[in-house]
Amino acid sequence: MHRLSPTGQRRLCGLGLFGIAAVAIYWNFFTDGLPIMWGPTARAAEVAAGRELFEHQWEPNDPLAHGDGLGPVYNARSCGACHFQGGLGGGGGREQNAVSFEVLPRPGDPNFRTGNLHHFSITPAFKESNDSLRAMFPIVKGSTTQSGDPHCRYTVTIPDFDPLHTQTVQTTALFGAGWVDLISDRAILRNARSRGLRSVVRELSLDFDNIPVGRVRHVPGGVGKFGWKGQFASLSEFVAAACANELGLGTPTTEQAKPLSAPDHTSPPDLDKAQFRALVAFVKTLPKPVEVVPDQAAAQADAAHGKALFGTIGCAVCHIPDMGGVKGIYTDFLLYTLSEPPPTGGSGEYGPGPPSQLELPSRPDSEPRPDEWKTAALWGVADSAPYLHDGSAATLHDAILRHRGDARIVGDKYKALTPADQLAVIAFLNTLKAPPDAPKVNSPAGTRLASR
Ligand code: HEC
Ligand code: HEC
Repeated sequence: MHRLSPTGQRRLCGLGLFGIAAVAIYWNFFTDGLPIMWGPTARAAEVAAGRELFEHQWEPNDPLAHGDGLGPVYNARSCGACHFQGGLGGGGGREQNAVSFEVLPRPGDPNFRTGNLHHFSITPAFKESNDSLRAMFPIVKGSTTQSGDPHCRYTVTIPDFDPLHTQTVQTTALFGAGWVDLISDRAILRNARSRGLRSVVRELSLDFDNIPVGRVRHVPGGVGKFGWKGQFASLSEFVAAACANELGLGTPTTEQAKPLSAPDHTSPPDLDKAQFRALVAFVKTLPKPVEVVPDQAAAQADAAHGKALFGTIGCAVCHIPDMGGVKGIYTDFLLYTLSEPPPTGGSGEYGPGPPSQLELPSRPDSEPRPDEWKTAALWGVADSAPYLHDGSAATLHDAILRHRGDARIVGDKYKALTPADQLAVIAFLNTLKAPPDAPKVNSPAGTRLASR
């Protein structure tokens, strides 16, 4: 038998190590990680149990709950009350908007705080309102003082400072959420990194490299993929937060929301592990949106033309069609500022930040600014009006015109299109529909709002 000499063995070993290193480097820098071969799955019985919990109209001390049931503070009685457009699990109208708040560091409290303001409470004592929130976080009054010596006196003015900022967000559709859960952080980071590289190497730059690269939102579990601001990395964390904040249901991982007026109020978890798993299984297996090609030849050509324009005018730089092995999702999961001029005071905060004289810590860098939003995934967009985070754009055309700030170049290109071309872009967006096999909404239309 032929045997390798010691030198040959060393060479072979070196070659092997080199190969492994090359594969590792390639893997790390040039791939999105493992492709997604199979979509999300769960046992049918679990999904059915989860659907029941999603549609269940919760009551205080509900027999299905292991704790105090609905509340003490809540926004609606069921998940389905808000998530219903285009089928169970879809988006909601503006009536279902949720209100969140943040409080900047202020004298006596150096912490940055965030929370939610709830529309309802099980007893009047726990009622929350803008007024009660304001009473807890009042405007820090400014002052005017005289300074200097008798020869040179000057006036020092410290302006009023409002540490409180509220914002409303509208209900997103959950179709395909299980697929989003499967997208690897690596794919999102790789796209952000390669755009960053291209914009550094200007000579090689393509047309759209003046569009700033959005911000990756890093949260404890990884890259934030869920929520208008990418607040959570995983679907199950968001579902737990929705249980806690929207319905006041505690889960094994997350306590129910506490009333502003009773921060020590507690209750055992309302959902046990099996119930929570079932609810996640239902949301995770909601079908993903579809691209529906129109039947009529003329309409088909129009939509195809619009799709091409969507690429050539630069929409697809942020609304990336395929991400991390999931086709037709149209987002890069990065944060951008589309408002212009940015609603900033001198300190880069929303409204005037704390006056420098107060020497307060500023907003932590890891927190998105109030004017930063994650690129909306456009799949299913035809069935999720109104548009933008707060639902302030009634039509797709309005939503596109509101693309200023980081998207200004592309917004201008859209505006410069002929009316027919603009309509083609809209025609393309209208092919991005809610899944036809979405579960049907069972509760009769009227009970949704009456139940709030
Ligand atoms: C009062 C209305 C309301 C109710 C009730 C509600 N949601 Fe939502 N849901 C919202 C809003 C508003 C958002 C967007 C929140 C954000 O991004 O900050 C949202 C977002 C979500 C998301 C994130 C989707 C994504 O891709 O970013 C999930 C998951 C979710 N809800 C699940 C649920 C579940 C499960 C329930 C029931 C336990 C529920 N929601 C009840 C209004 C509601
Ligand atoms: C710089 C990145 C960027 C570019 C370029 C961009 N968008 Fe957006 N788009 C966003 C962000 C971020 C949002 C969410 C903004 C918000 O909610 O306030 C958004 C939201 C939208 C929405 C609303 C979706 C919803 O569910 O509410 C539509 C429609 C849309 N974009 C279409 C387009 C079209 C068409 C183009 C090209 C003309 C385009 N976008 C270019 C970042 C971008």
